[in-house]
Amino acid sequence: MASEQQGNVLIGVIGGSGLYHLDNLSFIKHVNPETPWGHPSSPITICALPSGTQVAFLARHGIGHTLSPSAVPCRANIAALKSLGVRAILAFSAVGSLREEIAPGDFAIPSQIIDRTKGIRPTSFFEGTSVVAHAAFGDPFAIKFTKWLEERVQKVLQSAGNGSKLHTDKVIVCMEGPQFSTRAESKMYRAWGGDLINMSVLPEAKLAREAELSYALIATSTDYDSWREHEGYVTAAEVFKTLQTNAELSRKVAASILDELHEAAEEGDILTEEVGSMRFSIMPRS
Ligand code: ADE
Repeated sequence: MASEQQGNVLIGVIGGSGLYHLDNLSFIKHVNPETPWGHPSSPITICALPSGTQVAFLARHGIGHTLSPSAVPCRANIAALKSLGVRAILAFSAVGSLREEIAPGDFAIPSQIIDRTKGIRPTSFFEGTSVVAHAAFGDPFAIKFTKWLEERVQKVLQSAGNGSKLHTDKVIVCMEGPQFSTRAESKMYRAWGGDLINMSVLPEAKLAREAELSYALIATSTDYDSWREHEGYVTAAEVFKTLQTNAELSRKVAASILDELHEAAEEGDILTEEVGSMRFSIMPRS
C-alpha cells in the first residue's frame, strides 16, 4: 500500500448521510490512497483547524452520496485512514430511533451493537488470507474515547440551544437495507433491547478494531423507524427532513471538539486504547 503518512493527522472523521464536509477548517489537500482493498469511498480531505491541527475527513457514501450502505468499501476506508497515520476515528451516522425519548433531531452515543447485516459485506481484513484472527469485540466502541466524547457533545448541544438532547449508552442495531425495516422487525428490535437503528456502523467498527484504531460513533436521529402504533412508517422523505439540521449541528460538534481531541491524541491516553488489542487475536499455526 502506498504510504500517505502525513505525520500529525491523528484524527479521522467519517461523515454519514448529509455530512459531506466539515466547517471551520482550512483545506490543505485531497488524497486518494490505493489500498489492497481498493480506493476509499471518496478522496479524503486533509484540512486544518484554526490551531493548525490537521484532520482527515472522509464522506462514507461518497461526496455526491453515490454509495448505498451495502456498497461502502469499508476495508479501503479504514485502511486508507490508517495509512495517513490516523489513530482514532470519530464517525457520524444518521439513525432511526427505536425509543420514544430519542426524538428526531436528538444525538446519541451508542455503546453496543446488534448485527443484522446479512453477510454480504466483507467484515475482516483477514478474509481471503491464510491468517485466522478473532478480534475481541465485546465492547465495540473505544470506551475511554466514548466517555470523553459524551461530556463534550453534551456541552455543544446545550449551547446550540435548539432542544437537541444527547442520549448515551445506547444499543444500535445495524441492518442491511437498502429497504427500511418492516413494522414487525422494528418492534422485534425494540424487544431485543435496540435503541437506535442504522445501516452503516458495521463492518466499519469491526474493521477499525482489527486495525487497532479507536472508534466512536455520534448517531444523529432522523426518524422513529416503523414501530409506533397508529403512526406512519419511516420513509426516505422523513429521513431527509432532519438530515440537514442534524448535519449542521454535527459540524458544530466537530468544530468544537476536534482540537481538544487532537491534544488528547498527542498525550497518547484516550486515543491509543486499542493499540495492541489484536495481539492475541491471531490463531497460532500448529
Ligand atoms: N438511517 C436513518 N433512519 C434509519 C432507519 N429508520 N433504519 C435504518 N437506517 C436508518
